Amino acid sequence: MKAIAIDGPSGAGKSTMARKLAEKLGFIYVDTGALYRAIGLFALSVGANIYEPASVSGILAGIDISLKYSDGQQQVVLNGKDVSGEIRSEAVSMAASAVSAIPRVREFLLDTQRKLARENNVIMDGRDIGTVVLPDADLKIFLTASPEERANRRYNQLIKKGVSANYDAVLKDLEKRDYDDSNREICPLKPAEDSIIVDTTGNELEESVELLFNIVKENLK
Ligand code: DC
Repeated sequence: MKAIAIDGPSGAGKSTMARKLAEKLGFIYVDTGALYRAIGLFALSVGANIYEPASVSGILAGIDISLKYSDGQQQVVLNGKDVSGEIRSEAVSMAASAVSAIPRVREFLLDTQRKLARENNVIMDGRDIGTVVLPDADLKIFLTASPEERANRRYNQLIKKGVSANYDAVLKDLEKRDYDDSNREICPLKPAEDSIIVDTTGNELEESVELLFNIVKENLK
């Protein structure tokens, strides 16, 4: 099986790029952030304290998460219910970032992620795929862009979806998540030593897809 790891900060375009590359290559796309989001959603729904490791660890036994694929689209199933839409709110983004700093949560999700890579050709995106989850991945890409550009993309996505948003608030949330994800003790966001760093600031989406596709063609044996 082949595995491509794509890591990077929020809003760098990992999921859009990974989805398009997966389509071109016939691999499955695994969005690991969705797994942390599902735990964040569950923690909020049962009133756990998302900043308290003991509180969140205590609810893990009641969680069953699986990823399903139909027409190449990933669906996140939490205790039998499709929560793919619900996990995209800003509240769940913050909860996902908080619970992802808890070691038991990361341990809990490790097998699910590795099993998907054992059984499928995957493009997996996240924060620690190249460093921790799949250290032997065939290709590792660290995708990034300036905070302002990432906030702008997210802001435009929200507006397009009809969600009211404030650019400064989006930028502030994104910078907080960047800081928290990069400075946590366990599995912080950082490029793997053998990753190829790709900065997409100033690129149109199609340019970035083309760039990544060329990197894959040249580097995936
Ligand atoms: O990629 P995303 O924004 O959907 O991820 C949500 C949160 O989950 C993010 O703030 C950090 C965390 N995460 C992580 O710690 N490790 C991963 N492999 C993926 C996501």
